[in-house]
Amino acid sequence: MDVTGSTALVTGASGGIGEGVARALAARGAHVVLVARRADRLEALAAELRARHGVEALAVPADLSEPGAAARVQEAVEAWGGRAVDVLVNNAGFGLTGRLAQADDPARLAAMVTVNCTALTELTARFLPGMVGRGRGAVVNVASMASFAPLPGFAVYAATKAFVLSLSQALWAETRGTGVLVTALCPTATDTGFFDVSGESAGAGVRRRSVEQVVATFLDALDADRPVVVDGRANEVVAAASRLVPRGPFLRLAGPRIADRVGAPTGR
Ligand SMILES: NC(=O)c1ccc[n+]([C@@H]2O[C@H](COP(=O)([O-])OP(=O)(O)OC[C@H]3O[C@@H](n4cnc5c(N)ncnc54)[C@H](OP(=O)(O)O)[C@@H]3O)[C@@H](O)[C@H]2O)c1
Repeated sequence: MDVTGSTALVTGASGGIGEGVARALAARGAHVVLVARRADRLEALAAELRARHGVEALAVPADLSEPGAAARVQEAVEAWGGRAVDVLVNNAGFGLTGRLAQADDPARLAAMVTVNCTALTELTARFLPGMVGRGRGAVVNVASMASFAPLPGFAVYAATKAFVLSLSQALWAETRGTGVLVTALCPTATDTGFFDVSGESAGAGVRRRSVEQVVATFLDALDADRPVVVDGRANEVVAAASRLVPRGPFLRLAGPRIADRVGAPTGR
């Protein structure tokens, strides 16, 4: 998809993968709407992208775990010269490791589901109809390698990403022939601030990919017309293999050890 002159909305643009995606889109001539909580980082990035690439950039500070946040984001975009969103990148998200039975902050778990699933769904429902009406656009939902199997010790996070994967696959089918692409982008462990929030055990033993590598896969995904795009060749094999492994024996044999390793208390 040629994004030149289009408008792209990126959630979680204040750092990590979302910032990298916003930079890449602006470099290709897209006007960008940047959404996250840290307003100072969004404003600084917007100013930089305007100056560097001559595009329009709007910072929309929003906490996507709050009720009504998606509606406020849409209002902010519409108030911005009546622009239509052509590319929606639902990237904002976070993970929390630990066994559910030992969770000390249930509200934070619920906020994770809201950001990773509810806000993503509502933003898609708010912007997809316009794209379909204009016969052009893309929705890229950032899922994860954790989408492909239950993950003891990271159970709620993996479940949110399974939701993102399933939703994206179904919407890919629903939008066939409309000129709009919906796809799930599945990164593996990537070198971002993600682990500062989740705890390091979430990515223990996994070689981290760079944001640049994930952004390159994101750009490929815009042209690939596939419901699911996995970052990294080796991870494509892992994703395919994980579909073949029977869940029952996997959980019975490996589940407790994974829960001990991934869900170990981190002292956060
Ligand atoms: N890094 C990995 O290993 C990895 C692997 C697979 C999938 N992913 C997925 O990739 C996506 C991006 O993560 P990342 O690796 O780039 O991590 P990151 O550096 O921690 O970035 C997360 C982004 O989400 C935003 N965010 C978090 N909570 C939010 C809220 N309540 N409201 C609005 N924005 C919020 C953060 O901005 P503020 O803090 O400013 O709000 C930040 O911009 C996530 O969906 C994550 O699940 C990451």
